[in-house]
Amino acid sequence: MLLSSQKMAGSDALFFLLSSMTVLSWSLLVTGNQRWCSEIIVNIKYQCMDQNLSSIPTEIPSTVQQLDLSFNPLLRLTPKYFAKFPSLQVLDLTRCSIDIMEDDSFGGLRKLTVLILTGNTLRHLGDRVFCGLLSLQKLLAVNMNLSSLYDLPIGHLLSLQELNLRSNNIKSLKIPESFYNLTSLQVLDLHGNNVSDIVIEDLNVLTEVNMCNLTIILSNNIINHIEPGTFKGIHIHKLSLRNSFQNNSIMRTCLHGLEGLQVNKLEFGSYHDINSKIKFEDGLLDGLCQVEFQEVILICFSDIFIEKHTLFDCLSNASSIRIVNSDLVKLRAIPKFARLSYLEIKNCLTMDESMTKLVNWHTLKTVKVTKCSKTIISIPKFYGQVQYVSLDLTHNQMIFKECCSINDLGSSYLMYLNLSFNSLITITSDFEGLHELLSLDVQYTKITRIGMVPTFLTLGKLLYLDLSNSRTHFFIQCAFCGLKSLEVLKISGNSFEGNILSQMFKNLTHLKVLDISNCKLEGMSSSAFADLTELQEIRISHNKLMEFEPMVYAPLLSLSILDLSYNQLPFLPENALESLTRLLIHLDISQNPFDCSCTHLSFLQWTQKQKRLLQNIQSMTCSSPSHFNSVKVMNATISSCYTTFNLTPLAVSVGVLLPVALTAFLVYKCYAQHYYRLVLSRFCIDSTEEEDKYDAFVIFSSKDEEWVMTELVEKLEGGLPPFRLCLHFRDFTPGVSIASNIIQEGFLKSRNAIVIISDHFMESRWCGFEFELALSWQFLEGNASIIVIVLEKVNKSQLRQMLGLHKYLRRNTYLEWKKNKLDQHIFWTRLRNALMDGRSWNTRRRESS
Ligand SMILES: *[C@@H]1O[C@H](CO)[C@@H](O)[C@H](O)[C@H]1NC(C)=O
Ligand SMILES: *[C@@H]1O[C@H](CO)[C@@H](O)[C@H](O)[C@H]1NC(C)=O
Ligand SMILES: *[C@@H]1O[C@H](CO)[C@@H](O)[C@H](O)[C@H]1NC(C)=O
Ligand SMILES: *[C@@H]1O[C@H](CO)[C@@H](O)[C@H](O)[C@H]1NC(C)=O
Ligand SMILES: *[C@@H]1O[C@H](CO)[C@@H](O)[C@H](O)[C@H]1NC(C)=O
Ligand SMILES: *[C@@H]1O[C@H](CO)[C@@H](O)[C@H](O)[C@H]1NC(C)=O
Ligand SMILES: *[C@@H]1O[C@H](CO)[C@@H](O)[C@H](O)[C@H]1NC(C)=O
Ligand SMILES: *[C@@H]1O[C@H](CO)[C@@H](O)[C@H](O)[C@H]1NC(C)=O
Ligand SMILES: *[C@@H]1O[C@H](CO)[C@@H](O)[C@H](O)[C@H]1NC(C)=O
Ligand SMILES: *[C@@H]1O[C@H](CO)[C@@H](O)[C@H](O)[C@H]1NC(C)=O
Repeated sequence: MLLSSQKMAGSDALFFLLSSMTVLSWSLLVTGNQRWCSEIIVNIKYQCMDQNLSSIPTEIPSTVQQLDLSFNPLLRLTPKYFAKFPSLQVLDLTRCSIDIMEDDSFGGLRKLTVLILTGNTLRHLGDRVFCGLLSLQKLLAVNMNLSSLYDLPIGHLLSLQELNLRSNNIKSLKIPESFYNLTSLQVLDLHGNNVSDIVIEDLNVLTEVNMCNLTIILSNNIINHIEPGTFKGIHIHKLSLRNSFQNNSIMRTCLHGLEGLQVNKLEFGSYHDINSKIKFEDGLLDGLCQVEFQEVILICFSDIFIEKHTLFDCLSNASSIRIVNSDLVKLRAIPKFARLSYLEIKNCLTMDESMTKLVNWHTLKTVKVTKCSKTIISIPKFYGQVQYVSLDLTHNQMIFKECCSINDLGSSYLMYLNLSFNSLITITSDFEGLHELLSLDVQYTKITRIGMVPTFLTLGKLLYLDLSNSRTHFFIQCAFCGLKSLEVLKISGNSFEGNILSQMFKNLTHLKVLDISNCKLEGMSSSAFADLTELQEIRISHNKLMEFEPMVYAPLLSLSILDLSYNQLPFLPENALESLTRLLIHLDISQNPFDCSCTHLSFLQWTQKQKRLLQNIQSMTCSSPSHFNSVKVMNATISSCYTTFNLTPLAVSVGVLLPVALTAFLVYKCYAQHYYRLVLSRFCIDSTEEEDKYDAFVIFSSKDEEWVMTELVEKLEGGLPPFRLCLHFRDFTPGVSIASNIIQEGFLKSRNAIVIISDHFMESRWCGFEFELALSWQFLEGNASIIVIVLEKVNKSQLRQMLGLHKYLRRNTYLEWKKNKLDQHIFWTRLRNALMDGRSWNTRRRESS
């Protein structure tokens, strides 16, 4: 393998250094796979599901915290069965065919918080089996054929919070005395058991201990009778009775049986099945007048025509009512709710005038009418005396013909307005009077006017705005004017006129999250994010960006999450990598057409080191060159990049150690180089006092002067921002010797060197001289870049000789000039990015993390 390679040539050595870490972790993984259990987190989490194990495998380390042994035939647990694993926190023994658990089976597991015993049908259970499980919070004993709450000796579980006994065969709700010990119990789940009669003595224990946080779930039991007085004096958090009564008369008498109960939430009704809808009739809920509750949840009720509607009569003290899957059409009389502040109607079939009366109740603070899609076509009438703080009318297929002023919505207190997933909102008044609005969501609802005129001028407090997929086309720059406080803006799935986007985020200085994914963007203007210094998260996925332009992101000093997935980016420029690594916590560049050729060697190397930063690494695949097509970027073997070129002695040593390389370099080129080095060192002292005058010193053959003047100089010096180039025939001081001009004017005052390579260049010795000088200058300065531009089809083997050396130097950019306009566009952007290196992007510091 890699390690056994005998010939440790320089290139291999470098590759070895880069890859040795990967090899190391890979071998661990292999040994892990040969065993029964998979290692999910080393030393912490192991999964041994369905491995035909009859005991715990020996290789599980004693430090394990989460162990899944489900579906193995363990058959019998003996005392201290798990004592070797004192750190266990989660233990899954689902369907382990355990029929005997002896006393103290879990001895020593003082840290265990979750124990799953589901699906084991026990024959014998020691009375002291759970002894010592002092931290256990959750016990799942589903489907164990238990016939009573007395079957499990849970009195030792002093920290128990949740006891899940679903789908057993428990016939009685008789609460055992061991519950005196369970002072932290919050959930007793008896869903799907066989409790049919509840009698007074069943709940005696609950009257004596304070269990006001307890939820009792009795859903899916067929309850026939509750003895009146059973619940007297009992105070619990929630009682769930879904699907518990076979017909209305049983429901009516059983609700009377709840007399005296004090409960926060009371839930009853049937499950979704339409046929089992409970037909409302007078007196059905009368029993609730004797129950004290805050929140009631009615599921699957439907009403029949009656003159005096009494459904809500006993709910008049409720503070919260949820009506789900119900169909209450002919609601006539609305009782006087004393403190109703929350009303939710979900999945209703109709929404007519009478429901509107309910929705307009004056004490309501929160109203939700959602998924009532069948008949609603227009917004309910609001009468103006309501004081809603929150209004949610989502998923209703509504058409709002007049929106969205205080007159249309009725409440000037409105802070949260959610109109998403409806059909159409016609804006007739621009949020007038809604000065308190903090959150506005209209995603997936077609909306008029927005994007054509400034509509948000009154919403100075708004923090959250979601206009995603609202089929908005933004025509004006001032679409978001007035949103002084905005922190979250989501406008994905919309479109923009021209390059309006570059000005639209002006003044949104408090923005923290921006989503502009799926907006058909082909490029970003460098000023688009100029004001967004507080932005932490930006999503630009599913666009058509062809280029990552560091300048665009440079103002985003607080950025930590960047999503660029599903674009057309072939790579990230080298000069951006360091800042990205430093700033970001999450970077998603998956699903881009990566170019895995050696040209982007440093990018490839970088990706392979950023497993923590990069998201969805498995979806990062190469699309070129052809032999790498659909290979994962992680797996693209970069070793080939080190062998393609004729290695010079210098190249060999660079891989090992830079100081050695420098020495070798100087020795190798001594006769030519020594002189320049001395000259350079002398000038270095002066240069520190003077700021860089030029962005780049251009090295080229005079025969390429025309290209340099018409293309390079024009585009770079005339563009925005303008770059200052140093050209020897223009900028060198006349009368001074050329050699000292090169050093004084060219290298020491420029941050970069641009080398224009063409056949002319290769032929000219003069250029070779400059280029070598450029290399030694880079070594000495350490922080400058060389940008190589290949102008035309040059002699490849000669180029390789030259670039074979160049390849090993840090911070270099390699660009090819092509005839095609699109390629040229990319060329200029990349060149500008490379020149920006060392300017603001590189020097910015992270303010907070
Ligand atoms: C499981 O292991 C037992 C021996 O421990 C063996 O007899 C049985 O055939 C194995 N079952 C399967 C499905 O491998
Ligand atoms: C469940 O328990 C009952 C006795 O309570 C027993 O008769 C029955 O066989 C058990 N069922 C299973 C599947 O073990
Ligand atoms: C309640 O817990 C104590 C220890 O705190 C224990 O001695 C007692 O047996 C437990 N009671 C029951 C009914 O298990
Ligand atoms: C539920 O209990 C009744 C007796 O109370 C019994 O007849 C019936 O078979 C039980 N149902 C199940 C599913 O065990
Ligand atoms: C109920 O829960 C609350 C908060 O979770 C806690 O402060 C309170 O002490 C609990 N009450 C009881 C009786 O456990
Ligand atoms: C309700 O169901 C019970 C038990 O199945 C039955 O005895 C009673 O006659 C039913 N009542 C009505 C009104 O259907
Ligand atoms: C509502 O509460 C008041 C006292 O706060 C009580 O007198 C009245 O009977 C209650 N109404 C219902 C329907 O429970
Ligand atoms: C608005 O409602 C939709 C659908 O229920 C939900 O996904 C969205 O998060 C809500 N918006 C806000 C701001 O809560
Ligand atoms: C940005 O704010 C300044 C001053 O606060 C104002 O003059 C300018 O018109 C605003 N621009 C936009 C696009 O809102
Ligand atoms: C790619 O590399 C990963 C580990 O980095 C390895 O698990 C996977 O098998 C490799 N895939 C291919 C196709 O070589």
